[in-house]
Amino acid sequence: MTVGMSLELDRVRLSYTGTPVIDGLSLTVRPGEILVLTGPSGCGKSTVLRALAGLLTPDGGRVLADNAEVTTTSGDRGMVFQDNALLPWRTVRSNIELALRLRGEPRATRRGQAEHWIDELGLAGFGNYLPKSLSGGMRQRVQLARGLAGAPRAVMMDEPFGALDTQTRGAMQRLLIDAWRTHPTTIVFVTHDVDEALALGDRIVVLGRAGQPLRAVLEVSEPRTGQPREELRAEIIAALNHTVAA
Ligand SMILES: Nc1ncnc2c1ncn2[C@@H]1O[C@H](COP(=O)(O)OP(=O)(O)OP(=O)(O)O)[C@@H](O)[C@H]1O
Ligand SMILES: [Mg+2]
Repeated sequence: MTVGMSLELDRVRLSYTGTPVIDGLSLTVRPGEILVLTGPSGCGKSTVLRALAGLLTPDGGRVLADNAEVTTTSGDRGMVFQDNALLPWRTVRSNIELALRLRGEPRATRRGQAEHWIDELGLAGFGNYLPKSLSGGMRQRVQLARGLAGAPRAVMMDEPFGALDTQTRGAMQRLLIDAWRTHPTTIVFVTHDVDEALALGDRIVVLGRAGQPLRAVLEVSEPRTGQPREELRAEIIAALNHTVAA
C-alpha cells in the first residue's frame, strides 16, 4: 500500500514581486497526515501550496518532499483547487483518465481505475457526462477523484469545498475522509472554515503575515471523530484573531 510522503518547508521565503509573501516559514508535514492550513485572506496559504506542489520556487530556504528538494511539479504531488479546473470538453471519465495518464498509469488499466474512482466518489452513472451538466458538488467530486486517482503520495487541496453549501460540504468532507482512509496519502488542506479544519485535520496550522508566518500549530487528538472540540476551536479563533490584529 502506498503511504504518503513527508513534506517540509525549511525557512522558506516566497515572493511574486519584491516583497515576500512568506518569509522564514518552517513546517513539516508528516507522511500520511491531513494537515490543515488556515489563516486570513491574503496571508499566503495558496502560495505555500503552490510551493509544495512545485509550481513556485522559493527565493530563500528549501521545499523538500521525502527529503529531496522540490524543483518542479510531479505526478507524485497532486493538486485540487476550489475553482473548477476540469477540462470542459472532456467527460468525467476522460478527465479522470487524463489525471491517471499524467501519473504514469498504464493505458491498459486507466479505464478500470477511472471507473473505480467514479464509484469511490459516488459518481456512478455520470462517467459520460461533461462537467457543465453536473452540479457544483459533483464537479468537486470529479476534482477530488482527479486529485486522488493514481495514488499520488501527497495532495495539496486549496479550499476545494469553499463554494459549496453547508450540507454538500459536510458530505464532501466525509467522502474525502473515506477516500483517504482507503487510499492513504499525505494531504495539505487549505480552508477558511474553522469547523472544516476541525473535521479534517490531524493538525491545524494557522498562518500569519510574512514577518511571522507561523502563528500556531495545533494537534487534534483523536481526529475526525465528529466531536465538537470547543477548546480547540477557541484556540484556533484566538490564533486567527491574533493574526488579524498584528
Ligand atoms: N500571481 C500573483 N502575483 C502577484 N501577487 C500575488 C499572486 N498570487 C498571490 N499574490 C499575493 O500574495 C499574497 C498571498 O496570496 P495567497 O493567494 O497565497 O493568499 P491566501 O492566503 O491563499 O488568500 P485567500 O484566503 O484569499 O485565498 C497576496 O497579497 C496576493 O495578493
Ligand atoms: Mg488562497
